[in-house]
Amino acid sequence: MHAVIRMEPRRVSLVLVLVVCALTSCSHAPVPLPATPATLSTDSAAVAARGEYLVRNAAVCGGCHGASERNPDGALSGGKEFHDWRIGTARASNLTPDDETGLGTWSEAEIVRSLRTGVRKDGRLLAPVMPYEWFHQMSDEDAFAVARYLKSQPPVRNNVRQSPNIVFKLGKLILHPKPTMTVAATPRGATAEYGRYLSQHAALCAECHTPRGGIRSTPDMSRLFAGMAKPPKGFPANPSNLTPDPTGIAAWSEDDFLKALHTGVTPDGEHLHPFMPWKENGRMTDDDLRAIHRFLRTVPPIHNVVPRKEQPAQ
Ligand code: HEC
Ligand code: HEC
Repeated sequence: MHAVIRMEPRRVSLVLVLVVCALTSCSHAPVPLPATPATLSTDSAAVAARGEYLVRNAAVCGGCHGASERNPDGALSGGKEFHDWRIGTARASNLTPDDETGLGTWSEAEIVRSLRTGVRKDGRLLAPVMPYEWFHQMSDEDAFAVARYLKSQPPVRNNVRQSPNIVFKLGKLILHPKPTMTVAATPRGATAEYGRYLSQHAALCAECHTPRGGIRSTPDMSRLFAGMAKPPKGFPANPSNLTPDPTGIAAWSEDDFLKALHTGVTPDGEHLHPFMPWKENGRMTDDDLRAIHRFLRTVPPIHNVVPRKEQPAQ
């Protein structure tokens, strides 16, 4: 009681807002559904195949949503736990089209909205472990392709408990959904421009390799791809510096880069930790990997020594 009385008025009102919010779960304004892009192919199998490529090889959704951490290529029936002081425990959702426990009743537009804005079908904001911050700019075609692929999977019944606890509700004051917007596709090809798109908004290279800071744990875009010697809790390895600096991968040729992603072995003969999803990312086409490498050549070189962590026995 005394502690409250001694607080500055501004702080007291902030505390009041927090308490009221926690009790009433004050919500964000509704985020509109995206429209199905007119340019989406009418060949549904081709759309789903593009979605499969993005889900399995580029974004590796199974690294978080897989039933088994060891098999990101398996069923995306969820359950993996993530701990975040802002929101408590978040559990990766069941992305299979089961009517009761998965996305069975979700429309493609609803899936795309949650992927790109962080808003669930029921309006709840997703924990930011779900990387909507980066998927926000996934193109309309690609995002709908991802949704089409998810809906084409065999349904798996797995009830993943959601825990929007009090901390989660308070988190709403600092965490906000992203707006719905239209994102035109970047022309595909082995270009830096397409690599910029892939590495940030379709594959999650930037999500892991860019340092974060502040209460919202936002990526520091002035240090894009600079790596992390002190990664967030739960990272079993230190994401390398991928900028064209001597402390990054300036010395790597494009072939070195492709070889590392195909084999998991660096030019120095180091074996990459499996937390780096090289097996999955290495299945991307050579053109796509070249595009990413070409883009990485264009980011500002940043001096940042990232020591490699001890490896588990292989
Ligand atoms: C770094 C881990 C991570 C990755 C990678 C990831 N997600 Fe998620 N995702 C989560 C978590 C955790 C949740 C649940 C968050 C919550 O309950 O607040 C979630 C929630 C979702 C939801 C909401 C479903 C529901 O029922 O609430 C969808 C849809 C989704 N993810 C799709 C995807 C797709 C598609 C990909 C790949 C393109 C992907 N996610 C990649 C962690 C991840
Ligand atoms: C889930 C997090 C994660 C994602 C996603 C990720 N990386 Fe990594 N990456 C890492 C970590 C951690 C390491 C360090 C591995 C080690 O210490 O053995 C690494 C290492 C690397 C290396 C080796 C660099 C060196 O100096 O040895 C390259 C190249 C690389 N990543 C490229 C990529 C590309 C390209 C993508 C996107 C297609 C990507 N990574 C996505 C976490 C990630």
